[in-house]
Amino acid sequence: MTAPILELKGIDVYYGPIQALKDVSLHIDPGETVSLIGANGAGKSTLLMSIFGQPRVAKGQILYQGTDISQKSSYYIASNGIAQSPEGRRVFPDMSVEENLMMGTIPIGDKHADEDMQRMFALFPRLKERRNQRAMTMSGGEQQMLAIARALMSRPRLLLLDEPSLGLAPIVVKQIFATLRELAQEGMTIFLVEQNANHALKLSDRAYVMVNGQIRMSGTGQELLANDEVRDAYLGGH
Ligand SMILES: Nc1ncnc2c1ncn2[C@@H]1O[C@H](COP(=O)(O)OP(=O)(O)OP(=O)(O)O)[C@@H](O)[C@H]1O
Ligand SMILES: [Mg+2]
Repeated sequence: MTAPILELKGIDVYYGPIQALKDVSLHIDPGETVSLIGANGAGKSTLLMSIFGQPRVAKGQILYQGTDISQKSSYYIASNGIAQSPEGRRVFPDMSVEENLMMGTIPIGDKHADEDMQRMFALFPRLKERRNQRAMTMSGGEQQMLAIARALMSRPRLLLLDEPSLGLAPIVVKQIFATLRELAQEGMTIFLVEQNANHALKLSDRAYVMVNGQIRMSGTGQELLANDEVRDAYLGGH
């Protein structure tokens, strides 16, 4: 049996007096694509951000390759192989595509930067065409590609993605998911938060369903796609 790359054990997270995560446990094995689905406000982004220590967990453990990282700095976490593309495709608006990608190398240094940038341009040809363009002038889909590519520039072992398809046209969503599938096939471990449950479950080996800060259900992507409760709540009915 392989040990999980990431294991959350009984975590609680609060915003002031409000409890946003309640006794959440889950695990991700190396090489898996796992998604977390759930309604607006369920706590999905909170869970993803808590892996990076913001917000901090009040109780429980976050084990990454066996080490509890729940009290480590974001820099420690990033330089040890976790990268995230946060909700809302946060790119540095005044910087060019290339400069944004260079920012992604900060946790590991720039010695692989040229090689990795070429790889990002192969993965996302649109970024190559726009390498000198300022990020703020790029389309939503291009900015999302940039946010994912920037995360990959730190050569992560675990990639965390928060709503990569949000607000994008169906064709761009397809492109993004095709790229994620390519990364998964190359062996990347991916933890994906998505409202687009249909795409996410089709891509994922396994998934968790979050309701009001708690894990309600888990299973393989196929099991959850076929589950009546999931279909009614997240897949637009039968
Ligand atoms: N910084 C914050 N301060 C206070 N409450 C917060 C903060 N961030 C999130 N919350 C609350 O925590 C709960 C979970 O929010 P979260 O953003 O994790 O949900 P989500 O599942 O990602 O939702 P969405 O699908 O809309 O992105 C919500 O009730 C939200 O209002
Ligand atoms: Mg969210």
